[in-house]
Amino acid sequence: MRILVIGSGGREHAILKGLAADPATTDLHVAPGSPAFASLATVHADYKEVADPARMLELARDVNPDLVVVGPEVPLVAGVADALRAEGIAVFGPNADAAQIEGSKAFAKEVMEAAGVATARAQTVPAGASDDDIEHALDYFGPMYVVKDDGLAGGKGVVVTPDRAEARQHIHLVHAAGNPVLLESFLDGPEVSLFCLVDGETVVPLLPAQDHKRAYDNDEGPNTGGMGAYTPLPWLPAEGVERIVREVCEPVAKEMVKRGTPYSGLLYAGLAWGVAGPSVVEFNCRFGDPETQPVLSLLKTPLAGVLNAVATGTLDELPPLEWEDGYAVTVVLAAANYPADPRKGDAITSPDLADADKILHAGTSVKDAEVISNGGRVLNVIGKGESLSEARAAAYDVLNNIELADSFYRNDIGQAAEEGRISIDS
Ligand code: GLY
Repeated sequence: MRILVIGSGGREHAILKGLAADPATTDLHVAPGSPAFASLATVHADYKEVADPARMLELARDVNPDLVVVGPEVPLVAGVADALRAEGIAVFGPNADAAQIEGSKAFAKEVMEAAGVATARAQTVPAGASDDDIEHALDYFGPMYVVKDDGLAGGKGVVVTPDRAEARQHIHLVHAAGNPVLLESFLDGPEVSLFCLVDGETVVPLLPAQDHKRAYDNDEGPNTGGMGAYTPLPWLPAEGVERIVREVCEPVAKEMVKRGTPYSGLLYAGLAWGVAGPSVVEFNCRFGDPETQPVLSLLKTPLAGVLNAVATGTLDELPPLEWEDGYAVTVVLAAANYPADPRKGDAITSPDLADADKILHAGTSVKDAEVISNGGRVLNVIGKGESLSEARAAAYDVLNNIELADSFYRNDIGQAAEEGRISIDS
């Protein structure tokens, strides 16, 4: 199978690594990719316009792939999958109308309401709303205030705060960009990221994971795209995944079919598990980043066959997925000043820099034969082990040997779970 992957981050590095390990993969391409991916795939660095369907189609015509895997949400919401499918190319990733499950939080709420899926109460505050309307909405929802940009914000458009002034400031910031705001009630309880392969009404869950969205230890600091993740979740009841699939993912998949916008690709359910069970915080229309990195590192079933089954509408024929025993952890090494204004161009050294079993590249480049930082989240370090504690130790051992000036990482990825400090009430 000749496969083209669209994207350039740590998630795409993990996907490429999984695809490369599948004997069914004969030829791998990536756009725009990163120099670090060159040992796995032909890198089409000139194709940076991933949200331009015509440009991606041009590349696909050149590469002539059997399968295209679209990594990020922006091309999906922009209709890249539609353009490729119209050309008869098998694509892993939903069409634009189905990708609205992430592209518009208001749309996602509408689908959940129709499907009877538990989620936070929400109200849209349109750009141009009066100060009075904003104050009334703040009265109704907080504190805690949950303020979301109702558009694509790379996981960084959400502010959760007890501070009314901070909530108000974020509303004004989002409105200034011309986007509506979604105010939500706060969902309490530990968070779960569950990725499901979805092909119409067929839903196949991957291992559940937990992300750490705040920049600093003990969940302090600003929201980020995600600073680290671990899988599976030792505190989740044995029937937890089945319950999320039954109560959340299957009803949503059915509702999308009913609406005439069947879903094909990866449905990411971000949930909080409160006293009443799982409740949806958000949906994404693609693999999560960085949760994909540990999740795929435990997948034994060859990845190309899995993604191709979804893309060709044959997921119901796929044998059950097989997983390695044990745990996997990813810790993100972030650049100085991430997330506000990450510094780029600093040299990175590590004995493990080219070992994709230990380090996936999320934001690097090469200059004068030296690997340099080129993004906010720079490296994703992977640790695996029979226990969560072994997996954490393996990841932090690798991190200790990386040099990148003024970079930082969280020391507590998976720590609360390892110490048995996470429990659920239902
Ligand atoms: N891990 C958060 C996201 O992928 O949006």
